[in-house]
Amino acid sequence: MLAIIGGSGLTQLANLRITHRQVIRTPYGEPSGSVTFGKIRDRDVAFLARHGYGHTIPPHLVNYRANIWALHNQKVKRVVSVAAVGGIRSDLAPGTIAFPEQVIDYTYGRKHTFFDTTDRSVTHVDFTHPYTEKLRQKCLQAAKLAGEHFVAGGVYAASQGPRLETAAEINRMERDGAHMVGMTGMPEAALVREIGLEYATIAVVANFAAGRGTSVKAVSLEQAHGVLEQAMGRVRNILEHLVEIDGD
Ligand code: HPA
Repeated sequence: MLAIIGGSGLTQLANLRITHRQVIRTPYGEPSGSVTFGKIRDRDVAFLARHGYGHTIPPHLVNYRANIWALHNQKVKRVVSVAAVGGIRSDLAPGTIAFPEQVIDYTYGRKHTFFDTTDRSVTHVDFTHPYTEKLRQKCLQAAKLAGEHFVAGGVYAASQGPRLETAAEINRMERDGAHMVGMTGMPEAALVREIGLEYATIAVVANFAAGRGTSVKAVSLEQAHGVLEQAMGRVRNILEHLVEIDGD
């Protein structure tokens, strides 16, 4: 089964015909909320709102381990995350949808691994390619079928938040090779890899990153909310095509 983790602007899926909700207990504490199960175009889909259904959990307090463990526990095999980002590269203007292929992690102090006990042999998962290429390609195909304009790659910088970045931090991220910046891509991607599921991200550019484009003086979150609201309709369109080509 495919699971969708909704980020800012996507706390529910209007096109999901809900069958039931399940509260899942995990060894890592409480997930962000119950997992919603239902059908999109007659395919089974699970949905979880990353920041909670009331959008109250900030990025650094999301219990990423509980979220991923809960989905794994419910027989989910593939996870597509939807994530709002700031655009660093000039072509990643507000409203752009992108499917990143790489990650740079600037987060700290988050519970970032399932392998943090001393009672089993040390495990290092391969993370050369943080997104599952097969699933990423399905997302690209879905976006094409949906007729939506998109950017096919990009490097996602995961920042700690909840504050936005300084202009100098964005310059540094760009020098590092990042094209977009968000606050939730890590440790989510790494945990999904550790637990053995497929993962891809649909990044939605909500605003120009600090110091860029229309954010030279400041980042307007009001504008960003409007952009996200508009873009999520397009994301839902892509997801509908994705579940159809995904099969099971
Ligand atoms: N920075 C970090 N995370 C974000 C941004 C940003 O500019 N926009 C949306 N999520």
